[in-house]
Amino acid sequence: LSLSLSLSLSVSMGIAAQHLALSSSLIRDNPASFLSYSTSSQALISPAFRRAASKRAGAPRLGTLGPGRWPVPASSPISAALHESGGDNSNNADPVELNGALDRRQLLLGSSSLGIAGLPSLLLPQSALGSPVQPPDLKLCTTPIDPGNGAPSVNCCLPVSTTITDFKLPTNLPMRTRLSAHQVPSSYIAKYNQAYKLLRELPASDPRQYSQQANVHCAFCDAAYDVNGTQIEYQVHNSWLFFPWHRWYLYFHERILATLIKDDTFTLPFWNWDSATGYTLPPIYNDSKSSLYNANRNPLHRTPAVVDLNYNFTESNSSAAALLAANNTLMYRQMVSNSKTPSLFFGQSYRQGDEPNPGAGTIENLPHGTVHVWTGNPANPNDEDMGTFYSAGRDPIFHAHHSNIDRLWEVWKSLGGRRQDLTDSDYLNATFLFYDENAKLVRVRIGDALDTTKLAYKYQDVPNGWLNAAPRSRTSSDTAVNFGPGGGPHPAMAGRLREKLKEKYRKFKAGLKEFKERASGNIDKKERALVKRPRKVRADDFDEEILVLEGVRVASDEKIKFDVYINLVDDDDDDDDDKVGCDVPEYAGSFVNVPHMGMKMGEGRSVRKSNFRIGIGEVLKELDAEDDDDFAITIVPRGKPSVPISIDNVRIEYE
Ligand code: C2O
Repeated sequence: LSLSLSLSLSVSMGIAAQHLALSSSLIRDNPASFLSYSTSSQALISPAFRRAASKRAGAPRLGTLGPGRWPVPASSPISAALHESGGDNSNNADPVELNGALDRRQLLLGSSSLGIAGLPSLLLPQSALGSPVQPPDLKLCTTPIDPGNGAPSVNCCLPVSTTITDFKLPTNLPMRTRLSAHQVPSSYIAKYNQAYKLLRELPASDPRQYSQQANVHCAFCDAAYDVNGTQIEYQVHNSWLFFPWHRWYLYFHERILATLIKDDTFTLPFWNWDSATGYTLPPIYNDSKSSLYNANRNPLHRTPAVVDLNYNFTESNSSAAALLAANNTLMYRQMVSNSKTPSLFFGQSYRQGDEPNPGAGTIENLPHGTVHVWTGNPANPNDEDMGTFYSAGRDPIFHAHHSNIDRLWEVWKSLGGRRQDLTDSDYLNATFLFYDENAKLVRVRIGDALDTTKLAYKYQDVPNGWLNAAPRSRTSSDTAVNFGPGGGPHPAMAGRLREKLKEKYRKFKAGLKEFKERASGNIDKKERALVKRPRKVRADDFDEEILVLEGVRVASDEKIKFDVYINLVDDDDDDDDDKVGCDVPEYAGSFVNVPHMGMKMGEGRSVRKSNFRIGIGEVLKELDAEDDDDFAITIVPRGKPSVPISIDNVRIEYE
């Protein structure tokens, strides 16, 4: 036994080196731009950003950038191959966690990863193989995680289990209906309270216990693990993993609560923030004596404050009615006009070996991200609990928030057109690990999560008031001219307006340059640029026109939001168009980053790099710009102006 073990170890060292040689050339272009971010934009880096950069001091230190220019942990076999001198890596590693990790990886390499034709799968870069993302080995956990800004560090490593079984779809569960949290009967509230009370009372070591459940979110969102054997952060946000991972997370959380109160009919409620009946914090979470209460919420946003789905991290001065109207337009954008293809809704593909955070879908950016930050307490170091991923799962409202996201997935599929589940086998076969209601570790497949009725639940049918809430177009919104038949503009008047508008666009665009002509990609204030269209498509065609903001880079642990507008002409030269909201026809979409810890890059900076894609066919049509050769974009950063954002390039693609 010992002979074969040492043989496989020495073989695997050679394999690791080959793997590195192959994969480093594939990923070289990306780290290069990371480097330019950290060097050329030094002057723009705020003290907060520097602080963020030095966070996670307690985590295993990462090595310097090697010849492949990709930072890898100093203790990994890959880095041993990188540093030609070899060096004494043991000094750099957490003595317990990482030495164990190394052994484990070597064993995996030598034994179980002999795949097709007897070749170890690591001989080829995983990304080139295009395989589904596999869950991390729970033994290989980075701890502790330092949330920064003075918040105590957390250990969100999940309990390790030696047996993993494949999840089987439930056969004995009754069909359950998740209800709107604003409309649940008092008998339900009593059950829900009792279930949470029991959840909090479970022994701390029980994987189902309240804190352990919160840790599940922290563990898979804050770089506690890497994608098996790759030294790449394991991340379930900002990609196509977002919807299905959270669906499974809720499923097991719900089953655990149901089991604790011995009631298989129990479901989580959903926070229907997009509706005329659910736009405040649900009152069931407000009672400080209830087990559903959480003190770490924004005191300004207690009921009856109206939720601001387009939250700019500062209080809006709009009336409640205006906020609700704006919320509806935003929902229309995210659910109807801007997510006509699966990738626009679900987010970008993410396969084994890919860099994390390739890009979020419409809903994940907002309202998902904005409601997180709106709910958390800005007086806490990192807007805990809901405002940052490591602590979000501590607030029972998290699950109601995500239940609504999960419901919107169902609603979106019912809206027709190309709105269907993804069919890529690397999506369907991606797997996750969860502890089930019996505290057993199970492996689940995304493909088993697409039909909620197979998981024995559905949603209360509620009206989706935003379905037709398109913003009013510029050529018909002036009530002074609405004297034509049926209250619309008179055709002659509409023609005049249209021409005036075209003339305005022409003048506005004449003063603009393309994005690539800018000196740097940094966006620290409002920016305008011209975008040339390679060809014209119509919104009702099969093709959707997509505006891509390529290589958006932000510090992963900062709350970030910026808005993108199309042909937003500033009429009166007072340069106040950054006061514009999401309820104008020019609004195209927003990028949102909910703070989370990422794996440190190079000198310890944790940078999130994503593509931000916006479906704009319908916006162009609403603006009467679908036949133009080009259009203007305005990028408006929200929140703190000192937070750096950088964008590589802006281009158009079709899907
Ligand atoms: Cu995993 Cu709302 O976040």
